[in-house]
Amino acid sequence: MQRKSDVIVIGAGAAGMMAAIRAGKRGRSVVILDHARAPGEKIRISGGGRCNFTNIHAGPKNFLSANPHFCKSALARFTPSDFIAMVDRHGIAWHEKTLGQLFCDDSAKDIIRMLLEEMRAAGATLHLGTEISGVERTEAGFRISTGEGAYEASSLIVASGGKSIPKMGATGFAYRIAEQFGLAVLETRPGLVPLTLDPGLLESIAPLAGIAAPAEIRHGKTAFREALLFTHRGLSGPAILQISSYWREGDEIVVAIEPDIDISAHLKTAKQRNGRQSPQTALGDILPKRLAQFLVEREKISGNMADLPDKALLRLAAGAQNFALKPSGSEGYRTAEVTLGGIDTAALDSRSMEAKSVPGLYFIGECVDVTGWLGGYNFQWAWASGFAAGEWA
Ligand code: FDA
Repeated sequence: MQRKSDVIVIGAGAAGMMAAIRAGKRGRSVVILDHARAPGEKIRISGGGRCNFTNIHAGPKNFLSANPHFCKSALARFTPSDFIAMVDRHGIAWHEKTLGQLFCDDSAKDIIRMLLEEMRAAGATLHLGTEISGVERTEAGFRISTGEGAYEASSLIVASGGKSIPKMGATGFAYRIAEQFGLAVLETRPGLVPLTLDPGLLESIAPLAGIAAPAEIRHGKTAFREALLFTHRGLSGPAILQISSYWREGDEIVVAIEPDIDISAHLKTAKQRNGRQSPQTALGDILPKRLAQFLVEREKISGNMADLPDKALLRLAAGAQNFALKPSGSEGYRTAEVTLGGIDTAALDSRSMEAKSVPGLYFIGECVDVTGWLGGYNFQWAWASGFAAGEWA
């Protein structure tokens, strides 16, 4: 077994495998260690099993970080086109689903196979099921103690991900290593996560569980237009997952259902055209029926359209398109797709991901305080930051 190498990568996820490929292709000897039994487990389950592997519109504006400029350099040097070129070289068929999101036609496993083939071609050695008990600085670089003995290398790339989905082995390991070497770690919290509601509100929306509708969800100046899904625990769907990364406990969000339709104008026209219609029916022409019924009952509106003053119609429309509410919390790391916050980018060189105060130590991927929107952005960050570290380590 090879015990000494130029580079050790901890974590065989998206970022770690890309870093191993790049460093190996530069002629560096690379060992990649992971405590899991299989590499790229999050890739395997991503995008509903089809892996939304990048987004053709990915740019710095799609990422949250205490320093929004930090991600620019890495994203510019390994772009969605670079990843697409790799996917094409391996003959993996893909398609754009919506909003620039690229998915495998067949299976996310194709992406894992591609990365493993690239790693083999680059001469990187993968050790799975390897529990790491300690990381030390040595004169020559770093020593990693594991259940199978020690590994040594001049460069160490930490790519062990964040805290999301602990059931899949997420550990917060990277944050501990960062702290061990004196790097600041910013507060972490779950991102891209369903939001929960307090029992009173939840009880009232219980009949809506399972309904999805196009919506715009606003938090302050940030807004996302995608689907909203009512669940048994609260609110989910892409629009909610997106806004959840901006939301903080105690904050309000504003929901607008069917934002492309002027509901108040629709109701006024319906009143003129057919006054004998019920408001449920008029609203049910443009919204799911159960949702229409819920909105009418919530506004305590009764009678036919002809009986309703325009003020009541406006109230009904506002209930659908300007509904402010305070989520009680989120579903947490159990279901969050990503971890917000993490290793402070101020401690890292944005070109290489190397710790400014510890030469040879690199942090990449989700453990760094750079978090993408939903839609392939987080993998693009993993590929780009992995490539950056692999270029220098
Ligand atoms: P990642 O978590 O992938 O890899 C970390 C690796 O380190 C793992 O292999 C783990 O076993 C290993 N490790 C952890 N602790 C260790 C320790 N102590 N010792 C040794 N090894 C250790 N993004 C996107 O762009 N498109 C998508 O379609 C999706 N879909 C999606 C679905 C679901 C359900 C989730 C949870 C997440 C997504 N994401 C996504 C987000 C995406 O999966 C995430 O951003 C990347 O996987 C992060 O890549 P990393 O390599 O940084 O960490």
